[in-house]
Amino acid sequence: MSNPYQDDRGNKDASVTNPKPSGGFKAAPGTGHPEHNADAFLIGDNMTGGYGKGADILHSCTIAVNKGEIAVIVGPNGAGKSTGMKAVFGMLNLREGSVRLDGEDITSLTPQDRVAKGMGFVPQTSNIFTSMTVEENLEMGAFLRRDDISETMEQVYTLFPILKDKRRQAAGELSGGQRQQVAVGRALMTQPKVLMLDEPTAGVSPIVMDELFDRIIEVARTGISILMVEQNARQALEIADKGYVLVQGRNAYTDTGRALLEDPDVRKSFLGG
Ligand SMILES: Nc1ncnc2c1ncn2[C@@H]1O[C@H](COP(=O)(O)OP(=O)(O)O)[C@@H](O)[C@H]1O
Ligand SMILES: [Mg+2]
Repeated sequence: MSNPYQDDRGNKDASVTNPKPSGGFKAAPGTGHPEHNADAFLIGDNMTGGYGKGADILHSCTIAVNKGEIAVIVGPNGAGKSTGMKAVFGMLNLREGSVRLDGEDITSLTPQDRVAKGMGFVPQTSNIFTSMTVEENLEMGAFLRRDDISETMEQVYTLFPILKDKRRQAAGELSGGQRQQVAVGRALMTQPKVLMLDEPTAGVSPIVMDELFDRIIEVARTGISILMVEQNARQALEIADKGYVLVQGRNAYTDTGRALLEDPDVRKSFLGG
């Protein structure tokens, strides 16, 4: 069985994922803002908004990802990373700004309608049904589909073989890293064009983190765009085509992952030197 998420190259270098990073995301001087996002596949553009009638959390915040690329959002706790992801997924009413997917304005769509358009989202918390089996979780992920899901399920099992072994176990009995695999697998069941991941490696060991990043690179290689929030900023920027540093709901720095890793100010303030 061929698996679109895997090939035999086994290369961990994101530059192989995208031999020609598209660039074009240099910050406008002094703003930390991307200068242009013309080729973005998914973009939350100049988003301003907060929860309910509360104060704004996001302030003209822009996050975007190109086709088949990996974009990573980093920043301190409470910076608004998760809020930005929720805004892009339609879980927040924006006061200003817009969200576009493949050129189409989707700002007013519900999250469910965005899934139907090709967006997958793995939230930071409560991202699996712990009392259901692994396989039931994957089936739930495909709830919008009316076609045969068995091939997609096999693809997820090939990507994460341990899930096949444990498919009849309650997801809540799995280790932290395995649960995150269930969460990612569940999102892949809708065959998304873009996959949004909020801290997929939270609470897992460095080895499991590396493993998960490798799987995420494999998914990106199949042409699925990845927009990911990460606490492990240094490791995540290493695999990122594009990186965003958010601070207090604003774009502080935006550049290629590599350029951010080499930026002395970013290193000092956000990467521990
Ligand atoms: N459901 C919510 N209702 C109200 N305020 C929230 C909610 N979730 C987060 N916030 C607030 O939004 C701000 C940004 O939080 P969050 O987006 O979770 O940050 P991050 O993911 O970068 O750690 C924080 O001040 C937080 O208290
Ligand atoms: Mg968060």
